[in-house]
Amino acid sequence: MIRRILLAGVILLFVAVAGLALVISNTSECPTTPVATSGGDTMSAVISRCYGSPDVLEYTTVDKPVPEDNEVLVKVAAAGVNPLDWHYMRGSPYFLRLFAGIGAPDDYRLGVDFAGTVVAVGPEVTRFEVGDEIFGGAWGAFGEYVVRHEDRALALKPDNVSFEEAAGVPIAAVTALQAVHDHGKLQPGQRVLINGASGGVGTYAVQIAKDVGAHVSAVCSGRNIEMVKSIGADQVFNYKEENYIESGQSFDLIIDMIGNHGPLANRSLLKPDGRLVLVGGAKGNWLAPLYNAISTSLLNPFVSQEMMSFTAQMSAEAMETLATLMAEGKVKTVIDKVYPLAETAEAVRYSESGRARGKIVISHGDEHLAGLEGAD
Ligand SMILES: NC(=O)c1ccc[n+]([C@@H]2O[C@H](COP(=O)([O-])OP(=O)(O)OC[C@H]3O[C@@H](n4cnc5c(N)ncnc54)[C@H](OP(=O)(O)O)[C@@H]3O)[C@@H](O)[C@H]2O)c1
Repeated sequence: MIRRILLAGVILLFVAVAGLALVISNTSECPTTPVATSGGDTMSAVISRCYGSPDVLEYTTVDKPVPEDNEVLVKVAAAGVNPLDWHYMRGSPYFLRLFAGIGAPDDYRLGVDFAGTVVAVGPEVTRFEVGDEIFGGAWGAFGEYVVRHEDRALALKPDNVSFEEAAGVPIAAVTALQAVHDHGKLQPGQRVLINGASGGVGTYAVQIAKDVGAHVSAVCSGRNIEMVKSIGADQVFNYKEENYIESGQSFDLIIDMIGNHGPLANRSLLKPDGRLVLVGGAKGNWLAPLYNAISTSLLNPFVSQEMMSFTAQMSAEAMETLATLMAEGKVKTVIDKVYPLAETAEAVRYSESGRARGKIVISHGDEHLAGLEGAD
Protein backbone atom coordinates (compact mmCIF):
# COMPACT_ATOMS: atom_id res chain seq x y z
CA MET A 1 0.00 0.00 0.00
CA ILE A 2 2.70 2.44 1.07
CA ARG A 3 4.70 1.52 -2.07
CA ARG A 4 1.69 2.35 -4.26
CA ILE A 5 1.16 5.71 -2.55
CA LEU A 6 4.85 6.51 -2.96
CA LEU A 7 4.77 5.50 -6.64
CA ALA A 8 1.66 7.62 -7.26
CA GLY A 9 3.39 10.54 -5.52
CA VAL A 10 6.50 10.18 -7.70
CA ILE A 11 4.36 9.98 -10.88
CA LEU A 12 2.34 13.05 -9.84
CA LEU A 13 5.54 14.98 -9.09
CA PHE A 14 7.03 13.97 -12.45
CA VAL A 15 3.87 15.06 -14.31
CA ALA A 16 3.81 18.37 -12.42
CA VAL A 17 7.50 19.09 -13.15
CA ALA A 18 7.13 18.07 -16.81
CA GLY A 19 3.99 20.25 -17.12
CA LEU A 20 5.72 23.24 -15.55
CA ALA A 21 8.76 22.69 -17.82
CA LEU A 22 6.50 22.65 -20.90
CA VAL A 23 4.70 25.82 -19.82
CA ILE A 24 7.79 27.88 -18.99
CA SER A 25 9.73 26.80 -22.09
CA ASN A 26 6.88 27.80 -24.43
CA THR A 27 7.84 30.81 -26.56
CA SER A 28 5.09 32.90 -28.21
CA GLU A 29 5.35 34.32 -31.75
CA CYS A 30 6.65 37.89 -32.08
CA PRO A 31 3.85 40.41 -32.69
CA THR A 32 3.85 42.03 -36.16
CA THR A 33 1.61 44.97 -35.25
CA PRO A 34 3.20 48.32 -34.29
CA VAL A 35 3.60 49.07 -30.58
CA ALA A 36 0.48 50.78 -29.25
CA THR A 37 1.04 54.23 -27.71
CA SER A 38 -1.38 56.11 -25.50
CA GLY A 39 -1.51 59.34 -27.53
CA GLY A 40 0.73 61.25 -25.07
CA ASP A 41 4.44 62.08 -25.46
CA THR A 42 6.55 59.39 -27.12
CA MET A 43 10.26 58.50 -27.30
CA SER A 44 12.59 56.12 -29.15
CA ALA A 45 13.52 52.88 -27.42
CA VAL A 46 14.82 49.41 -28.06
CA ILE A 47 12.31 46.89 -26.76
CA SER A 48 11.60 43.15 -26.80
CA ARG A 49 8.02 41.92 -27.18
CA CYS A 50 8.93 38.25 -27.52
CA TYR A 51 11.75 35.99 -26.35
CA GLY A 52 14.59 35.16 -28.72
CA SER A 53 17.95 36.20 -30.18
CA PRO A 54 18.94 39.89 -30.64
CA ASP A 55 16.91 39.74 -33.89
CA VAL A 56 13.73 40.13 -31.80
CA LEU A 57 14.82 43.55 -30.53
CA GLU A 58 12.85 46.44 -32.05
CA TYR A 59 14.07 50.04 -32.35
CA THR A 60 10.75 51.81 -32.20
CA THR A 61 8.55 54.53 -30.69
CA VAL A 62 6.95 53.97 -27.29
CA ASP A 63 5.24 56.05 -24.61
CA LYS A 64 7.57 58.41 -22.78
CA PRO A 65 7.43 57.58 -19.05
CA VAL A 66 5.84 60.07 -16.63
CA PRO A 67 7.33 60.40 -13.13
CA GLU A 68 5.12 59.65 -10.13
CA ASP A 69 5.28 61.66 -6.90
CA ASN A 70 8.56 60.10 -5.65
CA GLU A 71 10.17 59.54 -9.04
CA VAL A 72 12.72 61.36 -11.18
CA LEU A 73 12.47 61.49 -14.99
CA VAL A 74 15.93 61.12 -16.53
CA LYS A 75 16.99 61.86 -20.11
CA VAL A 76 19.36 58.97 -20.76
CA ALA A 77 22.79 59.92 -22.11
CA ALA A 78 24.28 56.42 -22.06
CA ALA A 79 23.27 52.88 -21.10
CA GLY A 80 25.42 49.93 -20.06
CA VAL A 81 24.93 46.42 -21.46
CA ASN A 82 25.04 43.38 -19.15
CA PRO A 83 24.50 39.63 -19.49
CA LEU A 84 21.25 40.29 -17.56
CA ASP A 85 19.89 42.06 -20.66
CA TRP A 86 20.23 39.03 -22.93
CA HIS A 87 18.99 36.69 -20.21
CA TYR A 88 15.75 38.75 -20.17
CA MET A 89 15.75 39.09 -23.98
CA ARG A 90 15.88 35.27 -24.35
CA GLY A 91 13.86 34.46 -21.24
CA SER A 92 16.69 32.14 -20.32
CA PRO A 93 17.24 30.24 -18.11
CA TYR A 94 13.56 29.37 -18.40
CA PHE A 95 12.78 29.72 -14.68
CA LEU A 96 13.39 33.49 -15.23
CA ARG A 97 10.09 33.50 -17.15
CA LEU A 98 8.25 32.84 -13.89
CA PHE A 99 9.07 36.50 -13.05
CA ALA A 100 9.51 38.03 -16.54
CA GLY A 101 6.45 36.51 -18.23
CA ILE A 102 5.37 33.08 -19.49
CA GLY A 103 5.50 32.79 -23.31
CA ALA A 104 6.48 36.46 -23.83
CA PRO A 105 7.83 39.26 -21.62
CA ASP A 106 5.18 41.02 -19.50
CA ASP A 107 7.18 44.24 -19.89
CA TYR A 108 8.73 45.11 -23.26
CA ARG A 109 11.29 47.50 -21.76
CA LEU A 110 14.91 46.35 -21.75
CA GLY A 111 18.19 47.61 -20.29
CA VAL A 112 18.93 48.56 -16.68
CA ASP A 113 22.18 50.54 -16.34
CA PHE A 114 22.03 54.21 -17.33
CA ALA A 115 23.59 57.63 -16.85
CA GLY A 116 21.79 60.83 -17.75
CA THR A 117 20.30 64.14 -16.68
CA VAL A 118 17.26 64.67 -14.47
CA VAL A 119 14.70 66.59 -16.54
CA ALA A 120 11.66 66.41 -14.22
CA VAL A 121 10.94 65.38 -10.62
CA GLY A 122 7.74 64.32 -8.85
CA PRO A 123 6.42 66.75 -6.18
CA GLU A 124 7.77 64.65 -3.26
CA VAL A 125 11.34 64.21 -4.57
CA THR A 126 13.99 65.74 -2.30
CA ARG A 127 17.18 63.80 -3.17
CA PHE A 128 17.63 65.11 -6.73
CA GLU A 129 16.68 68.20 -8.74
CA VAL A 130 16.26 69.07 -12.40
CA GLY A 131 19.66 69.37 -14.07
CA ASP A 132 21.42 66.80 -11.83
CA GLU A 133 23.61 64.36 -13.74
CA ILE A 134 22.98 60.94 -12.21
CA PHE A 135 23.61 57.26 -12.88
CA GLY A 136 22.04 54.05 -11.65
CA GLY A 137 19.65 51.24 -12.46
CA ALA A 138 16.17 51.67 -13.96
CA TRP A 139 14.15 49.30 -16.11
CA GLY A 140 14.05 50.48 -19.73
CA ALA A 141 17.53 52.02 -19.96
CA PHE A 142 17.58 51.19 -23.70
CA GLY A 143 15.26 54.16 -24.24
CA GLU A 144 15.55 57.94 -24.37
CA TYR A 145 14.02 58.42 -20.90
CA VAL A 146 13.68 56.39 -17.69
CA VAL A 147 11.81 57.00 -14.44
CA ARG A 148 12.98 55.77 -11.04
CA HIS A 149 11.97 56.18 -7.41
CA GLU A 150 14.47 58.61 -5.88
CA ASP A 151 15.41 56.18 -3.05
CA ARG A 152 16.49 53.38 -5.37
CA ALA A 153 19.95 52.62 -6.83
CA LEU A 154 20.79 56.14 -8.04
CA ALA A 155 23.66 58.52 -7.29
CA LEU A 156 25.06 61.80 -8.56
CA LYS A 157 27.59 61.25 -11.35
CA PRO A 158 31.04 62.56 -10.36
CA ASP A 159 32.18 65.45 -12.59
CA ASN A 160 35.40 63.66 -13.56
CA VAL A 161 33.46 60.73 -15.06
CA SER A 162 31.76 60.76 -18.49
CA PHE A 163 28.18 59.58 -18.99
CA GLU A 164 29.53 56.57 -20.90
CA GLU A 165 31.90 55.62 -18.06
CA ALA A 166 29.16 56.05 -15.47
CA ALA A 167 26.67 53.97 -17.49
CA GLY A 168 29.00 50.97 -17.32
CA VAL A 169 29.01 50.97 -13.53
CA PRO A 170 25.70 50.01 -11.89
CA ILE A 171 25.14 46.24 -12.17
CA ALA A 172 28.74 45.17 -12.80
CA ALA A 173 30.41 47.41 -10.22
CA VAL A 174 27.77 46.84 -7.52
CA THR A 175 28.28 43.10 -8.06
CA ALA A 176 32.07 43.51 -7.81
CA LEU A 177 31.76 45.72 -4.71
CA GLN A 178 29.55 43.19 -2.93
CA ALA A 179 31.71 40.24 -4.03
CA VAL A 180 34.89 41.88 -2.67
CA HIS A 181 33.52 43.56 0.48
CA ASP A 182 30.22 42.08 1.66
CA HIS A 183 30.71 38.42 0.70
CA GLY A 184 34.48 38.16 0.15
CA LYS A 185 35.34 40.23 3.26
CA LEU A 186 38.71 40.93 1.66
CA GLN A 187 41.33 42.46 3.98
CA PRO A 188 44.52 44.43 3.26
CA GLY A 189 47.46 42.16 2.47
CA GLN A 190 45.27 39.14 1.61
CA ARG A 191 45.56 37.26 -1.68
CA VAL A 192 42.54 37.23 -4.01
CA LEU A 193 42.12 35.38 -7.31
CA ILE A 194 39.61 36.83 -9.79
CA ASN A 195 38.48 34.42 -12.52
CA GLY A 196 37.04 36.39 -15.47
CA ALA A 197 39.03 39.53 -14.61
CA SER A 198 38.72 41.12 -18.08
CA GLY A 199 34.89 41.26 -18.21
CA GLY A 200 32.43 43.82 -16.89
CA VAL A 201 32.34 42.59 -13.29
CA GLY A 202 35.99 41.46 -13.33
CA THR A 203 37.50 44.82 -14.32
CA TYR A 204 35.71 46.53 -11.42
CA ALA A 205 36.54 43.66 -9.01
CA VAL A 206 40.28 43.95 -9.77
CA GLN A 207 40.23 47.70 -8.99
CA ILE A 208 38.08 47.39 -5.85
CA ALA A 209 40.29 44.55 -4.51
CA LYS A 210 43.37 46.66 -5.23
CA ASP A 211 41.78 49.57 -3.35
CA VAL A 212 41.39 47.27 -0.33
CA GLY A 213 45.16 46.70 -0.43
CA ALA A 214 45.06 43.04 -1.46
CA HIS A 215 47.43 41.13 -3.75
CA VAL A 216 45.36 40.50 -6.91
CA SER A 217 45.78 37.48 -9.19
CA ALA A 218 43.70 37.76 -12.35
CA VAL A 219 42.59 35.06 -14.80
CA CYS A 220 42.12 36.23 -18.39
CA SER A 221 43.26 35.41 -21.94
CA GLY A 222 46.53 36.63 -23.47
CA ARG A 223 44.95 39.55 -25.35
CA ASN A 224 43.72 41.06 -22.06
CA ILE A 225 46.83 40.64 -19.90
CA GLU A 226 48.13 44.20 -20.34
CA MET A 227 44.70 45.75 -19.76
CA VAL A 228 44.17 43.76 -16.57
CA LYS A 229 47.64 44.68 -15.29
CA SER A 230 46.98 48.35 -16.12
CA ILE A 231 44.00 48.38 -13.73
CA GLY A 232 45.95 46.83 -10.87
CA ALA A 233 46.44 43.06 -11.22
CA ASP A 234 49.72 41.94 -9.59
CA GLN A 235 49.77 38.52 -11.25
CA VAL A 236 47.99 37.13 -14.31
CA PHE A 237 47.07 33.60 -15.35
CA ASN A 238 46.48 33.28 -19.10
CA TYR A 239 43.69 30.72 -19.06
CA LYS A 240 44.44 29.67 -22.64
CA GLU A 241 47.93 28.51 -21.60
CA GLU A 242 47.71 27.58 -17.92
CA ASN A 243 45.15 26.27 -15.50
CA TYR A 244 45.15 28.34 -12.30
CA ILE A 245 43.81 25.32 -10.41
CA GLU A 246 47.20 23.64 -10.99
CA SER A 247 49.24 26.66 -9.87
CA GLY A 248 49.93 25.27 -6.38
CA GLN A 249 49.23 28.73 -4.93
CA SER A 250 46.82 29.48 -2.12
CA PHE A 251 44.33 32.32 -1.75
CA ASP A 252 42.21 33.96 0.94
CA LEU A 253 39.47 34.66 -1.57
CA ILE A 254 38.45 33.42 -5.02
CA ILE A 255 35.85 35.44 -6.92
CA ASP A 256 34.58 33.41 -9.86
CA MET A 257 32.71 35.04 -12.75
CA ILE A 258 33.11 32.06 -15.11
CA GLY A 259 32.32 28.88 -13.17
CA ASN A 260 34.44 26.68 -15.45
CA HIS A 261 36.03 24.95 -12.44
CA GLY A 262 33.73 23.42 -9.85
CA PRO A 263 33.68 24.41 -6.17
CA LEU A 264 35.87 21.44 -5.14
CA ALA A 265 38.61 22.46 -7.60
CA ASN A 266 38.49 26.09 -6.41
CA ARG A 267 38.50 24.93 -2.79
CA SER A 268 41.82 23.15 -3.38
CA LEU A 269 43.43 26.63 -3.69
CA LEU A 270 41.74 28.19 -0.68
CA LYS A 271 43.42 28.64 2.69
CA PRO A 272 41.58 26.79 5.52
CA ASP A 273 39.66 29.97 6.40
CA GLY A 274 39.38 31.16 2.76
CA ARG A 275 36.23 32.15 0.88
CA LEU A 276 34.81 31.26 -2.53
CA VAL A 277 32.37 33.80 -3.98
CA LEU A 278 30.61 32.54 -7.07
CA VAL A 279 29.26 35.34 -9.29
CA GLY A 280 28.57 33.72 -12.68
CA GLY A 281 28.21 30.28 -14.20
CA ALA A 282 27.46 28.28 -17.28
CA LYS A 283 24.92 29.28 -19.94
CA GLY A 284 21.87 27.11 -20.50
CA ASN A 285 18.10 27.06 -20.45
CA TRP A 286 17.60 24.55 -17.66
CA LEU A 287 19.77 23.62 -14.66
CA ALA A 288 23.29 24.21 -16.04
CA PRO A 289 23.43 27.86 -14.84
CA LEU A 290 22.44 26.72 -11.33
CA TYR A 291 24.71 23.70 -11.06
CA ASN A 292 27.75 25.42 -9.49
CA ALA A 293 25.61 27.54 -7.17
CA ILE A 294 23.75 24.46 -5.90
CA SER A 295 26.89 22.35 -5.48
CA THR A 296 28.65 25.25 -3.72
CA SER A 297 25.88 25.63 -1.14
CA LEU A 298 25.68 21.85 -0.64
CA LEU A 299 29.43 21.68 -0.03
CA ASN A 300 29.62 24.69 2.27
CA PRO A 301 28.45 23.04 5.55
CA PHE A 302 31.09 20.31 5.24
CA VAL A 303 34.24 22.41 4.70
CA SER A 304 36.21 24.88 6.80
CA GLN A 305 36.05 27.53 4.06
CA GLU A 306 33.05 29.79 3.38
CA MET A 307 31.64 29.04 -0.08
CA MET A 308 28.71 30.95 -1.53
CA SER A 309 26.98 32.35 -4.58
CA PHE A 310 24.96 35.55 -4.45
CA THR A 311 22.76 37.90 -6.45
CA ALA A 312 23.83 41.53 -6.37
CA GLN A 313 21.53 43.87 -4.47
CA MET A 314 21.26 47.24 -6.18
CA SER A 315 20.99 50.07 -3.64
CA ALA A 316 21.50 53.81 -3.29
CA GLU A 317 24.21 53.12 -0.69
CA ALA A 318 26.23 50.90 -3.06
CA MET A 319 25.88 53.48 -5.86
CA GLU A 320 27.09 56.28 -3.56
CA THR A 321 30.11 54.19 -2.51
CA LEU A 322 30.98 53.63 -6.17
CA ALA A 323 30.47 57.32 -6.99
CA THR A 324 33.02 58.16 -4.26
CA LEU A 325 35.52 55.57 -5.54
CA MET A 326 35.19 57.00 -9.07
CA ALA A 327 35.44 60.60 -7.89
CA GLU A 328 38.68 59.65 -6.09
CA GLY A 329 39.98 58.00 -9.26
CA LYS A 330 40.18 54.57 -7.55
CA VAL A 331 37.67 52.91 -9.90
CA LYS A 332 37.43 53.56 -13.62
CA THR A 333 35.30 51.99 -16.34
CA VAL A 334 37.18 50.08 -19.01
CA ILE A 335 35.08 50.69 -22.13
CA ASP A 336 35.32 48.13 -24.90
CA LYS A 337 32.79 49.27 -27.53
CA VAL A 338 30.26 52.10 -27.81
CA TYR A 339 27.12 51.76 -29.97
CA PRO A 340 24.31 54.20 -30.87
CA LEU A 341 20.84 53.35 -29.53
CA ALA A 342 19.68 52.17 -32.97
CA GLU A 343 22.39 49.47 -32.89
CA THR A 344 21.55 48.12 -29.43
CA ALA A 345 20.83 44.68 -30.91
CA GLU A 346 24.47 44.50 -32.09
CA ALA A 347 25.68 45.60 -28.65
CA VAL A 348 23.64 42.86 -26.96
CA ARG A 349 24.85 40.32 -29.56
CA TYR A 350 28.44 41.27 -28.72
CA SER A 351 27.78 40.93 -24.98
CA GLU A 352 26.32 37.49 -25.59
CA SER A 353 29.52 36.43 -27.37
CA GLY A 354 31.21 36.54 -23.95
CA ARG A 355 34.23 38.39 -25.36
CA ALA A 356 33.70 41.89 -23.90
CA ARG A 357 36.82 43.58 -22.52
CA GLY A 358 35.29 45.66 -19.73
CA LYS A 359 32.00 47.31 -20.61
CA ILE A 360 29.82 47.68 -23.70
CA VAL A 361 27.97 51.00 -23.74
CA ILE A 362 25.07 52.52 -25.72
CA SER A 363 25.62 56.26 -26.16
CA HIS A 364 23.12 58.93 -27.25
CA GLY A 365 26.13 61.20 -27.97
CA ASP A 366 25.39 64.85 -28.80
CA GLU A 367 21.68 64.08 -29.13
CA HIS A 368 21.57 63.97 -25.33
CA LEU A 369 22.81 67.56 -24.99
CA ALA A 370 20.62 68.77 -27.85
CA GLY A 371 17.61 67.05 -26.28
CA LEU A 372 18.15 68.87 -22.99
CA GLU A 373 17.48 72.25 -24.53
CA GLY A 374 13.82 72.98 -23.86
CA ALA A 375 13.34 69.77 -21.87
CA ASP A 376 10.65 70.07 -19.24
N1 LIG B 1 25.53 37.15 -9.26
C1 LIG B 1 25.17 38.33 -9.76
O1 LIG B 1 24.41 39.10 -9.15
C2 LIG B 1 25.70 38.73 -11.11
C3 LIG B 1 25.74 40.09 -11.47
C4 LIG B 1 26.32 40.43 -12.69
C5 LIG B 1 26.80 39.42 -13.54
N2 LIG B 1 26.69 38.13 -13.15
C6 LIG B 1 27.21 37.04 -13.99
O2 LIG B 1 28.62 37.10 -13.89
C7 LIG B 1 29.20 36.67 -15.12
C8 LIG B 1 30.19 37.72 -15.61
O3 LIG B 1 29.48 38.92 -15.93
P1 LIG B 1 30.23 40.05 -16.78
O4 LIG B 1 29.29 41.19 -16.93
O5 LIG B 1 31.56 40.27 -16.21
O6 LIG B 1 30.36 39.27 -18.18
P2 LIG B 1 31.20 39.69 -19.47
O7 LIG B 1 31.60 41.11 -19.39
O8 LIG B 1 30.39 39.27 -20.64
O9 LIG B 1 32.52 38.75 -19.39
C9 LIG B 1 33.26 38.61 -20.54
C10 LIG B 1 34.69 38.31 -20.15
O10 LIG B 1 34.83 36.96 -19.70
C11 LIG B 1 36.10 36.49 -20.11
N3 LIG B 1 36.17 35.05 -20.16
C12 LIG B 1 35.47 34.22 -20.96
N4 LIG B 1 35.83 32.93 -20.73
C13 LIG B 1 36.78 32.95 -19.78
C14 LIG B 1 37.52 31.95 -19.10
N5 LIG B 1 37.34 30.65 -19.38
N6 LIG B 1 38.39 32.33 -18.15
C15 LIG B 1 38.56 33.62 -17.83
N7 LIG B 1 37.90 34.64 -18.45
C16 LIG B 1 37.01 34.30 -19.40
C17 LIG B 1 36.26 37.09 -21.49
O11 LIG B 1 37.62 37.17 -21.83
P3 LIG B 1 38.17 36.48 -23.19
O12 LIG B 1 37.36 37.08 -24.32
O13 LIG B 1 39.59 36.85 -23.25
O14 LIG B 1 37.92 35.03 -23.02
C18 LIG B 1 35.62 38.46 -21.36
O15 LIG B 1 36.57 39.48 -21.08
C19 LIG B 1 28.04 36.40 -16.07
O16 LIG B 1 27.75 35.01 -16.01
C20 LIG B 1 26.90 37.18 -15.46
O17 LIG B 1 25.64 36.63 -15.80
C21 LIG B 1 26.16 37.75 -11.96
